[in-house]
This record gives sequence, structure tokens and C-alpha cells, in this order.
Amino acid sequence: MIESTLFKGISFLSSQGQVQQDVLVKDGKIVLIEPSIKEHAEQIINEPGLLLMPGVIDPHVHFRDPGATHKEDLYSGPKAAAAGGVTSFFEMPNTKPSTTTAALMDDKKKLASQKSLINYNFFIGATEDNIDELLNVENVAGIKIYVGSSTGSLLVDDSESLQRIFEKANKLIAVHSEDEATIKRNLETYRGSSDVHDHLNIRSTEAALICTKRLLELAKRTQSRLHICHLTSKDELDLINDYALKNVTTEVSPQHLLLNAPDCYESLGTLSQINPPIRERYHTDALINGLKNEQISLIATDHAPHTLDEKLKQFPNAPSGMPGIETSLPLLLTLVNKGRFSLEQVIKWMCEGPVACFNIQNKGYIKVGYDADLVLIDLKKKHQLSNKKTLSKAGWTAFDGWNCEGSSVATFVNGQMVFRENDFFEDIKGKEIFVGLQR
Ligand code: DOR
Ligand code: ZN
Ligand code: ZN
Repeated sequence: MIESTLFKGISFLSSQGQVQQDVLVKDGKIVLIEPSIKEHAEQIINEPGLLLMPGVIDPHVHFRDPGATHKEDLYSGPKAAAAGGVTSFFEMPNTKPSTTTAALMDDKKKLASQKSLINYNFFIGATEDNIDELLNVENVAGIKIYVGSSTGSLLVDDSESLQRIFEKANKLIAVHSEDEATIKRNLETYRGSSDVHDHLNIRSTEAALICTKRLLELAKRTQSRLHICHLTSKDELDLINDYALKNVTTEVSPQHLLLNAPDCYESLGTLSQINPPIRERYHTDALINGLKNEQISLIATDHAPHTLDEKLKQFPNAPSGMPGIETSLPLLLTLVNKGRFSLEQVIKWMCEGPVACFNIQNKGYIKVGYDADLVLIDLKKKHQLSNKKTLSKAGWTAFDGWNCEGSSVATFVNGQMVFRENDFFEDIKGKEIFVGLQR
């Protein structure tokens, strides 16, 4: 274990804009930021050409452990994440078994403490009858409700149960918002179709809108803390805007920003099949605007790995979901280089946004006293994303062949280097993320 690291004359973004200073890290924390630090450090990083940014916090991933570890596990997922500049994650409860009790939550945290290279915490999954577990479990990312069913067996869509959870919840409620009844009806209409384009007709904009309206009404009435996962439609954004509730936050995934229908279904087929689906261009444009005008709080990958064999089954037999934890930062940095976004915006959406939304303690900023979760990036590094380079057990990416400019070069978790170029330092383990009061 390295006890202290000094970043010599490193550039980073601060509240004063881009500055070049020395940053001293000791015992996992940032302890000093000054123009010229004389103090001795065990390790010195002198990389004037690189930029330092807070480690990416990805608050929506599926690492499949326990239960489907042939797709991913709490070792492979965090390793892929570290390579992508991600230093912390929140993982979803749709594992096998689903994470629906405090005891199962403890099991998962224990697994992560033994296997994960980066920092971790987890959502507890809501069922119709586990309200006591939801209320009593401590220090979790939040409560996750699948109001429409997706991968796994979790589903709560009856009004009575939803009302009870919203009224009583003492923590943030994150939702997968698609109306189950509408989806079921559409499934009847498109029964027998093997055309992946029908994914959009089955998981329609209407299904998302009906469910989101229902959830906004509940949040308004109960004043609970609602977080709507992976927004996909202009319609929902407009509705959320109309409600203008201070207790509601939202997220969007890179794939919903960068891919659009019908092109993705032509070129990628079932590889682009995810829930809720990738929609037409005007939705994508609205999501980008929603981020820019601060209507959307953050970017989360919804890293949902399935193997290529599973994904190449014909529609509707392929599972929904795609991996994304390794490619999110390079894709966003590429957009910075293209002049579409600023680096400030990317840091706001991928580091500061999650901190504010979930009330994560001591992370997301390069500031004295904060955890030394840091990424060295080379903003000008040109590279090509490819299935071959993928570290996730999924073994593929929807962005295969995409040319990127900008990449993580080294990743530090609690002051320890876990990744550098192609090397991993595997004796390092992440820590449980501390989440403050959410409601
Ligand atoms: O496409 C999806 N895949 N959407 C979800 O909500 C779940 C996820 C998964 O776990 O595979
Ligand atoms: Zn979801
Ligand atoms: Zn998800």
C-alpha cells in the first residue's frame, strides 16, 4: 500500500477554472492543494501533459453477482470500470437472488469487499411485502422499484404497494419507469414478431409516459425523494418540466444519448435492444438539451452485460441490456473534443451530479478533505473502441469500431493506483460508499 502520493504540477478543474497545482494525497484523502508542495511523498506523479479529474461515479450498473456471474461479477465489473476511469458504483438489486433484505444486502457488500477494485454500494429492491426491510436497511444507495418488469423477477406495480412505499420510504426511491399493463397489451399486439424494430412498439413512449406521470403524482403527493432512472423520451422530459418538483431527479445513459432509432436496430439488431429502448433522434436531441439545461441531473451507464451468444438470439428471445462502464468516459471525452460539451459539464454529470443526487459523502471533487478517488486523463489520446479490448465479461460493446479522442490513463481509488495503461494492481480493494440522509 502506498501511503502518500504527490501529483506534481497537475492540471485540474477547480471552482476557479482550470488550475495547475500540486496535489498531495495521504492515507486515501486529498490533504493539500498548493502551487508547490515541499513535503515528502512515497510516490510522485509528474505528468504535466495529463489532466486530473475526480473519479467517475456510476450510480446505475448491473454486475450480476450473485447468480449470473457468467455475464459479470463483482471482480470483472469493477475491473472494467477502473479501466474506464470509474472509481465508485451503485449496483442494482436484480441479481439472483434479488437483493430484497438487509441480510442479502450484507452478503453483497461482503462479496464486494473481497472482490471489487473500486468503491461500492447497492440498491435494495422493493417487493410488495418487504417494506420493513426497505425502511430498516442502513447505508444503501436507495430503494429500487421496477414499476415495469425488465431483466429479473422484481416488479411492483399495484397502486396500494406503491403508495405504501412512497409514503413510508426514508431513503431515495429509484425507479425503472415503464407501465407494465401497457407493455403487456403491446406484447399481445406484436405477439409472434421477430422484428427487433417492434421493441419500440412494445416498450412504447406511451408506456414510459404513463408510468412516469403516475410516479410524479406519487412523488408530489407524498413528497418522497424520487429518482427516475434512464430517461428516454422528450415526452417524459416535458412532463417532468411541467411538474417542476424539487424532490425529483433524473438520469440518462450514454447509449440513449449517442444511438438512435431506427439506425441502431438496422446496424446492431438485438445488441441495441435495451429497456427502456433507444428511441428516435428527436428524443435523443431532447435528452442532450435536458442535460445542458440541468433538467437531467447525471449520466449513469446502466451497464447491463449479457454475453454475445445470449444477445444474438432472435428477437424477442434476446435479453435486454448492453454493457457500458468502460466506454462512458471515453465517449463523453470525445464529445468534449468535438466541442459538443465542456469538460466542466462532463465532470458535473459524471462526478458531482451523482454526489448531489444521492448525498454521497466526501467524493466527486478535487478538494482538501475529500477521498482521493482520481483519474488521470489524456484528453488527446486517440483510440478505437473494440469488442476485443473489452474487459467486461460481456465481451462486446455497441460502440465497436468507434473512434475516440480522450481516455483514462490511470485510476486511483482511495489514493491507491488500481489501473495504469494496461496494468491492474489487484491487491487493492475498494470501500463501501457512505451515503448521507436522503429524505
Ligand atoms: O435493458 C435493461 N437491462 N434494462 C433493465 O432495466 C435491466 C437491465 C438488465 O439487468 O439486464
Ligand atoms: Zn432499468
Ligand atoms: Zn438498469
